[in-house]
Parts: sequence; structure tokens; C-alpha cells
Amino acid sequence: MAVRDILKMGDPRLLGVAQAVTAFDTDELHLLVSDLLDTMLAVNGAGLAAPQIGVDLQLVIFGTNARNPRYPNAPPVPKTVLINPLITPLVANEKDAVPGEEEDWEGCLSVPGLRGLVPRFSQIRYTGFDQYGDAIDRTVQGFHARVVQHECDHLIGKLYPMRMRDFTRFGYTDVLFPGLDAGQDD
Ligand code: NI
Repeated sequence: MAVRDILKMGDPRLLGVAQAVTAFDTDELHLLVSDLLDTMLAVNGAGLAAPQIGVDLQLVIFGTNARNPRYPNAPPVPKTVLINPLITPLVANEKDAVPGEEEDWEGCLSVPGLRGLVPRFSQIRYTGFDQYGDAIDRTVQGFHARVVQHECDHLIGKLYPMRMRDFTRFGYTDVLFPGLDAGQDD
């Protein structure tokens, strides 16, 4: 178990498409999950993807307690290890041509000190596996859906600024949100 260095934007390892995990319930995989959890906890993150610590695998972890100082108003999201994920946007109303979107503020441990307003699908179904190879299949919305989309984007080389449409809504956390206890690294 160890707290690992988090790669920052500009590192080409954050821009690749990660490899699928092919072996579950291995010592190597459990060690990776343990390192990701230790690293996320050390910086009060809401999620972390394997490529952010330089590991080229389709594995993300996420989850929040009721009181995460980086996201004080966010509802709790269950602690989850998600491997080889697949996200399907859901259409709230079948007559809608485009699945529902909503914008909200995001930060990223690989983009320290900054926040931006990012459009995401408001409702998704996500599937994948945990570290034991057991299937995960959930339909979620709001902050939970946003966290999953943000983390899974790391597996296809996308950082949240690449999803933004309005760069007037991008700035330093301490300027945008004075008084927010944003933690040590963000
Ligand atoms: Ni991130």
C-alpha cells in the first residue's frame, strides 16, 4: 500500500486509451486498487483513474463520504472500483433527440487548483466489473453520473477541460469559490 504520485495535465500518459484488464482477483490488481485508494484518500479526491498514477489499465475508483471538503455540497456516492467500464447515456424522455445534459463545476487531481463548468449526461447506465470480476450494473444520475463520466474519461485520454464549452467558466478554485476548503492539492 502506498500513496502514489498523481500525473498532471501535460503528461502524455494522461492522453492515451487505456488497456482492458484481462485478469481479475490477482495480487497485482488488488495492490493497484489499494494504491489508488490510499492516493485518493490522501488528497480528498472524489475519484481517481489508474492512468493518473501512470498505470495503463481501464480501472477507476470513486466514492465520497457525506463530507468531502473538496465537494462539500455533493451527495454521497458509494465507494466503487470499476473496471473495463461501459457508459450508456439515458434519454429521460424518449421523444428527446439528445440525451439530457446538465452543467456543473468539476475539478481534477491532475489539474490542481482549477475548476471548470462541464456539460455531462445527467442520467447514465454504467456497467463493468469490480476487482474480483463481479459484474456492476447501475443506473444513476446527477453527481454520481458526473463522477463516473469524469473518471471514465481518464481511460480515453480526456481531461475535463477538453469537455468544456465556455472557457469564461474556468478558473482558480480559490478565486471562483473563496472560502471553500479545497484541500492541500486542489
Ligand atoms: Ni480527474
